[in-house]
Amino acid sequence: MRLFMDTANIDEIRRGAAMGVISGVTTNPSLVAKEGIQYKDRVLEICEVVDGPISAEGIAQTADELVEEGKRIAAWHENVIVKVVMTEPGLEAISRLSAEGIGTNCTLIFSANQALLAARAGATFVSPFVGRLDDGGQDGMEMVREAVQILESFHLPTQVLAASLRHTRHVTDAALAGAHVATIPSTVLFQMLKHPLTDSGIERFLADAKGYTAV
Ligand code: G3P
Repeated sequence: MRLFMDTANIDEIRRGAAMGVISGVTTNPSLVAKEGIQYKDRVLEICEVVDGPISAEGIAQTADELVEEGKRIAAWHENVIVKVVMTEPGLEAISRLSAEGIGTNCTLIFSANQALLAARAGATFVSPFVGRLDDGGQDGMEMVREAVQILESFHLPTQVLAASLRHTRHVTDAALAGAHVATIPSTVLFQMLKHPLTDSGIERFLADAKGYTAV
């Protein structure tokens, strides 16, 4: 499973990328709004830091507008993936953009059937929102498992990108469910590398090392 960062904060992205574990970034209008910067400017900055798929989302509503906006967004940089919400016009836009070779990420997926539709329309990625489904008392990870099984059974090339992941266990479970990618907030990424036994182990090694002179 590849790891993407789900943030528009460039400092967090630089920190994550420096560890060599990040293969892409996902953004959305809510994440960029927190940064107080123009969407295009931030996406171009991210493209300088991470050499992989960078999802950028528009706000158009009709299929024609979505296609026009998607082409504009895709022209920002060769690594940009156009994020399109799961609606009827969204599916039409995905199918038209993908026919022109433009990568798409169908977002706001809340069922395996929606994932199947987006895959059939030609989406490069589908983004099931795990945490938001969990919030409503449903099992978000089951949707990921079903979507992976369906797409793989029928040899559809669309990748399942587990999104709305809120804690470290979600990342493990997404990997076990077979998600091709997990996009994770930076807080979760940095929590993943921590363990209290690692910290106490380091302390003990450092204390014991005082008993000899290092070469
Ligand atoms: O990738 C989708 C993500 O940004 C949404 O996460 O926590 O707002 O449900 P959340």
